[in-house]
Amino acid sequence: MFSLKGKKALVTGAAVGIGRGYATALAMAGADVAIVDIDEKTGTKTAEYLKKEYGIDSFFVKCDVTKPEQVAAMVQAVVDRFGGLDIGVNNAGIGILGGDEDYRPEDWNKVIGVNLSGMYLCAREEGRFFIKQKKGGKIINTASMSARICNCNASYNASKGGVVEMTRMLAAEWGRFNINVNCISPSYILSPMHASTPVEVRQRIRELTPLGHVERPDDLYGPIIFLASDASNYVTGVDLLVDGGHTLNAWLTPLTRDLPPRISPEEEIISLKRDLDNLGVPYDENGINPDLHPEVAGAFKAAFNL
Ligand SMILES: NC(=O)c1ccc[n+]([C@@H]2O[C@H](COP(=O)([O-])OP(=O)(O)OC[C@H]3O[C@@H](n4cnc5c(N)ncnc54)[C@H](O)[C@@H]3O)[C@@H](O)[C@H]2O)c1
Repeated sequence: MFSLKGKKALVTGAAVGIGRGYATALAMAGADVAIVDIDEKTGTKTAEYLKKEYGIDSFFVKCDVTKPEQVAAMVQAVVDRFGGLDIGVNNAGIGILGGDEDYRPEDWNKVIGVNLSGMYLCAREEGRFFIKQKKGGKIINTASMSARICNCNASYNASKGGVVEMTRMLAAEWGRFNINVNCISPSYILSPMHASTPVEVRQRIRELTPLGHVERPDDLYGPIIFLASDASNYVTGVDLLVDGGHTLNAWLTPLTRDLPPRISPEEEIISLKRDLDNLGVPYDENGINPDLHPEVAGAFKAAFNL
């Protein structure tokens, strides 16, 4: 029921981070996976890694998801190479930090352009193919806990709220073609986006998360395989929140634990280090590269008064 043997998949934003994690999980379950990204160098390495490690077919497709003609060509390239498509994972996303009182309209448009319009363009193209193929299909979008809690800024949170509602609408429209449309909402994930986040911030995140560890791309393996496989055939229009309980706002519960978290701080950063190796950037023993996303680290430090 959970096997993806013989299935053909594409994942956008799959060179590193969450997308790379999704692609890895789909490959582990037996699917052939196209790595779609704007970063050709890193994306090609990811595709090579999956082929070697899991014995499936994988290749890189360069595509900026904000460009309708590139998205159409990308889906066609995947269909040409694999002979079909069963699973479309739309994950490419960006954040541009900054207070909303000074936020620049061009930054607003960029964030909405990639996170919401780009995701829609990919879903639309995959949906068209699935409708034509008459075999149904699975579409999975990456939203975020930012669709439910106010943790970033208006453009990012609005884009993710939009992804959840877009997902529900497409699910309603395309159920008649046996197309399932769902999204996954992760919490703070140790992707390269968080490579500059200091250890003190990670500790605060652990303390504010009932399951007690910082989320990794690996924590999404089970959820993505579930939503991509026959196991979820009657699940559609759902936003699957995968956050270790972070958004339960459990600050009133005692911060002591009866058992250590399932994942130790050392284990948290294994896949982050793999991602940073793939990017060819150095890091310290905590998997930190202070120069990669200092703006994210700065926002966290300010939020936690560090
Ligand atoms: N990291 C987190 O804490 C977190 C939490 C919740 C949701 N998310 C969401 O998960 C998704 C992936 O985030 P991540 O943390 O892996 O980010 P990341 O920055 O580590 O990786 C994003 C990937 O998307 C690619 N990309 C960016 N713009 C693109 C475009 N226009 N076309 C094609 N590819 C493009 C990048 O090259 C990169 O490989 C995003 O939608 C993000 O909003 C992230």
